[in-house]
Amino acid sequence: MATKTLNVGLIGSGFMGQAHADAWRRAGLLYADLPLKPVLHTLADATASIAEQAAKRFGFAHWTADWREMVHHPEIDIVDITTPNNMHFDMALAAIHAGKHVYCEKPLTVSLEEAHILVEEARKANVKTIMAFNNIKTPAAQLAKQMIERGEIGELTRFRGWFDQGFFNDPNLPWSWRCSRELAGSGSLGDLGSHVVSVAQYLMGPVASVIGQEQTFISERPEAGQGSGYGATASSQSVKKRVENDDQFQALVRFTNQAAGVIESSRISAGKVFGIAWEVSGTEGTIIMDGERFNELKIARYSDSNHDRGFKTIYAGSQVDSFAGFFGFDFAGGGLGYFDIKVIEIYDLIKGLVSNQPCFPDFTFGYENQKIIDAMIRSSNRGGVVSIK
Ligand code: NAI
Repeated sequence: MATKTLNVGLIGSGFMGQAHADAWRRAGLLYADLPLKPVLHTLADATASIAEQAAKRFGFAHWTADWREMVHHPEIDIVDITTPNNMHFDMALAAIHAGKHVYCEKPLTVSLEEAHILVEEARKANVKTIMAFNNIKTPAAQLAKQMIERGEIGELTRFRGWFDQGFFNDPNLPWSWRCSRELAGSGSLGDLGSHVVSVAQYLMGPVASVIGQEQTFISERPEAGQGSGYGATASSQSVKKRVENDDQFQALVRFTNQAAGVIESSRISAGKVFGIAWEVSGTEGTIIMDGERFNELKIARYSDSNHDRGFKTIYAGSQVDSFAGFFGFDFAGGGLGYFDIKVIEIYDLIKGLVSNQPCFPDFTFGYENQKIIDAMIRSSNRGGVVSIK
């Protein structure tokens, strides 16, 4: 049991704020070998009443409507940012300058320049950073990485990945910060596609060039009436606001290792819920992951005897160290859910904080992710191939 503590300052208590609070609490409970014990110190939100209600519900000792005050509080060790995308930059920069470690939701920022500044400032301040790319923390993704590194599918040739959700398919769902270029940057690409890009970076390596195209089908939405985030509703009298970014995006991708592929995202794909899926092919086989069954991988190995040809289902879990917090014995396929992956993310974060290596994935990874997204958008705007510098 850890004797040293890690005081957490969380900004935002929406969908991800709640997921992070839950994960900080459960990481402390589940992992006996956790080197630092997370303490829910302070929650900051836009107003004192939102912050107070959330702090009490999540179990934070203090709350504030002034995130800057919290960031500078001497007792805070790590600042956890779960606010809309355009706020990440100011919050992360202030935390870095206050000498705090930073854990930030994706995408890192809404502009490439800002992402670069954060990487440089974190390096100068010698603080650790971690990005919330939870789709590379699933046991399935980590197991796929192991298989690729063992050479089980040979030389990599192709990546195909997409993240489809149908939550925004209803045109009566209200306008939100996700529809604004200023507040969110891109639409489905930054919100959902950035996860697929993270998997491509993790499994395939650096991207060399892209070609992108985007479409917006629901060009305006009613202003929100009640609720916020994914739970907001609009009344039929609401004024309409323009949707400024993509509902869906498609990109062709070339990797520096000569493999190539396709990355797509959609927030209006009717019927899809957690529709993240990816396939990696190599000269000796193919691995397939379906996000609605992310405790499993399918693998076909060309080397299998003719009698056994075909895709086999592999149960993912015990092959990955961090799974042991949930099942401390060989129980692959036991089944984790979406919010459990955030617990794994925090386990990795804390291990990273006490090691002499950077956390993974850090802001440099987030910056690379942003470069790829930025290149896809530039290609969509002007046409043609855009190289990643
Ligand atoms: P949300 O709209 O549900 O929550 C945003 C929170 O930020 C709210 O509590 C809001 O009151 C707070 N906030 C707004 N202005 C503030 C201010 N000035 N000071 C302090 N707090 C303020 O949004 P959601 O869905 O939680 O998304 C937040 C971030 O998480 C985004 O960057 C998004 O891309 C990311 N995200 C990541 C997911 C993942 O799977 N890793 C899934 C969903 C979102």
